[in-house]
Amino acid sequence: SPLRVCVCGGGNGAHMMAVLAATRPDTEVKVLTLFQDEAERWNKALEKGEMTINYSKEEGKNQPDDHAKPAAVSKVASEVVPGSDIVLFVVPAFAHEEYLKAIAPYVNKKTVIVGLPGQPGFEFQCKNMNGHDTIEECTIMSFETLPWACRIKEFGQTVDCLGIKKYLAGSILRGKSVPRKPPLMSLQALLGPAPEIKQAKHFLEILFMSYSFVHPAILYGKWKDWNGKPVNSEPLFYQGIDEFTANLLAECSKEFLDVVHAIMAQRPNVDLNAVQDIYEWYITYYKDDIEDPSSLLQAIRTNKSYKGIVHPMKKVSNKFEPNFQSRYITEDIPMGLVVFKGVAQIVGHETPKNDLLLEWGQKKIGKVYIVNGKLDGKDVAETRCPQRYGIETLDDLLNGKKLPPPI
Ligand code: NAI
Repeated sequence: SPLRVCVCGGGNGAHMMAVLAATRPDTEVKVLTLFQDEAERWNKALEKGEMTINYSKEEGKNQPDDHAKPAAVSKVASEVVPGSDIVLFVVPAFAHEEYLKAIAPYVNKKTVIVGLPGQPGFEFQCKNMNGHDTIEECTIMSFETLPWACRIKEFGQTVDCLGIKKYLAGSILRGKSVPRKPPLMSLQALLGPAPEIKQAKHFLEILFMSYSFVHPAILYGKWKDWNGKPVNSEPLFYQGIDEFTANLLAECSKEFLDVVHAIMAQRPNVDLNAVQDIYEWYITYYKDDIEDPSSLLQAIRTNKSYKGIVHPMKKVSNKFEPNFQSRYITEDIPMGLVVFKGVAQIVGHETPKNDLLLEWGQKKIGKVYIVNGKLDGKDVAETRCPQRYGIETLDDLLNGKKLPPPI
């Protein structure tokens, strides 16, 4: 019988994934989109015919367009989730909880839940769904990012694929039952030849490799001393970083690695050796795009794939103000840095530089996560840090779930 796939979401990535999966032989694709009237709009668009993925034609690339369509699109989980072998979350992390609650009654123990991307804390969230025992036992996969750079051109009809990653790191946290189809092979078959999936040795590897401090640090470096007056133009985000920001990035990265080493020292069987320092990571991942790899500062400033990317800004009359409500803070802090902080707290490590970003960022979005360097703030319950799920020990952390006390 075919591989049955349910794609959750209605944005750029969900469009791309739904069409791509539907082109594969022996695959049945359904879409669940809970947001507003997206399901209705998508179904209406499908009346015009098949969907299209438009591949970028620049630089001699000549991949032919793909045409296909999902078998069903719905906002009602009971219509599209039952019987799924794989449920793919292709939505921003703040929407994961809503989707998990919606699908929980309709999954079975053999269902594989995939975060594409998962973002830090995805496993803690999936494995600690109070009152939904089945989903807690599912196999969970989490990917470091979306496999493509893509944008919807016409909703429910056409999506532009601007770039495809060469490699994609993903983790697998096996559930109690063996999935009906092998998860890694099935995922690779859905994605096609690229990106090539690199399996992480432990799910925490993906958590650290999200480098959640990068966006907050670049924002902090640029706006920490801002006088509140609108500026004339939108400053470059990556290309515009200075020495201070590059040093801050290196220091935050060192704190990440210190926590990684502390975990491996306490539990030698946990292999997190693949977690790289941020500079090494840039050089490995953007090998062909970096013009001057001589330092972290230059590597970021001369990375061609960052060309022209500007700070998130709001227009005020003819000028610009930074928009601190962008996902670089609203997502990268509660679904990123706070999760790292929680892990650091469990292994008993101080992280002053990351704390600095947390303190600054939480103020910008009117939240309180840390107080005096501890995750004691009133808004911790909205984050995905392990503590939110009652995980306070290293064993619970490594397992992704609070274990019952030994008898
Ligand atoms: P998107 O911006 O297209 O997502 C929008 C979709 O999210 C909406 O269509 C809706 O289905 C859902 N949504 C929005 N607000 C919602 C709400 N309040 N409640 C429930 N659902 C809501 O996202 P995209 O581009 O598909 O990206 C998905 C993830 O992949 C994100 O985490 C993004 O950062 C990441 N990513 C995206 C890349 C891209 O090129 N599009 C590249 C690398 C990573």
